[in-house]
Amino acid sequence: MNFENILCEVKDGICYLTINRPKKLNALNIKTISELKEAVTLIEKNNNVKCIIITGSDNKAFIAGADIKEFSNYKSKLAEDMSKKGHQLFDFIEQSKKPFIAAINGFALGGGLELAMACHIRVASDNAKMGLPEVSLGVIPGYGGTQRLANLIGKGRAMEMILTTRMITAQNAVDIGLVNHICDQVNLLGFCEKLAIKIKRNSPVAIGKAIKSINSGFKYNIDGNTSEIKLFGECFDSPDFNEGVSAFMEKRKPNFN
Ligand code: COA
Repeated sequence: MNFENILCEVKDGICYLTINRPKKLNALNIKTISELKEAVTLIEKNNNVKCIIITGSDNKAFIAGADIKEFSNYKSKLAEDMSKKGHQLFDFIEQSKKPFIAAINGFALGGGLELAMACHIRVASDNAKMGLPEVSLGVIPGYGGTQRLANLIGKGRAMEMILTTRMITAQNAVDIGLVNHICDQVNLLGFCEKLAIKIKRNSPVAIGKAIKSINSGFKYNIDGNTSEIKLFGECFDSPDFNEGVSAFMEKRKPNFN
């Protein structure tokens, strides 16, 4: 499989998917989302793949969020489309019969943390920083983050993380159950491989059914996701969005009224 923004390699039943835009801290633009969708669709059908490890290239970022420059001129319609595409990809991953492990090798912000949360297991390197900074840009998490974060760490903690935009450390993330494990950056992929090896010894049919069964216990409030898509789109018509995104691109602090 040849892609522009992702690397995809299969070895001994494990598929390694690497987001590869290091100069942009692996920010998720539309092209990367669509390449990921194509890759995971092929992986789902490939019987040689038993487990998938997703990571970011280089050692600074897993994914620093959706590509802010790309969406900086969007209005609500385009933003809703963007949100729907992200939802489709992340739902596909979450509902896959094959386990996805997120190897969080640095910043996992916005859409990056949302992707990690759609995976079945998360391991963070000790330098990782996680957060949902969207409201500082005048938008809200738009790839399922408002729903998945609350499911994983509880509504009260999710409210605080999203409303304050505070980035948390890997250790904080383990403490609140946002990630399963923490390890040295050099050992991160090895640690995830060990988990994958333990998983792939087991029945693929039963693994798929276990994922489905666990997910059904955390049934999404469909209205929650529909409302997230709509509200995400609406943010793009507000002056706060223009101010938040301009401030990021001009490397200054935003000034919201
Ligand atoms: N979208 C687009 N470009 C991004 C990006 C994003 N989400 N995150 C980082 N980049 C780009 C920067 O614009 C910069 O590009 P440039 O060299 O062409 O200016 C490059 O990646 C390196 O980032 P930089 O900000 O210089 O690195 P830093 O070490 O000073 O800061 C972060 C790292 C992660 C704290 C900072 O990049 C950041 O806050 N990113 C945005 C996070 C965010 O709000 N994500 C949610 C989006 S909805």
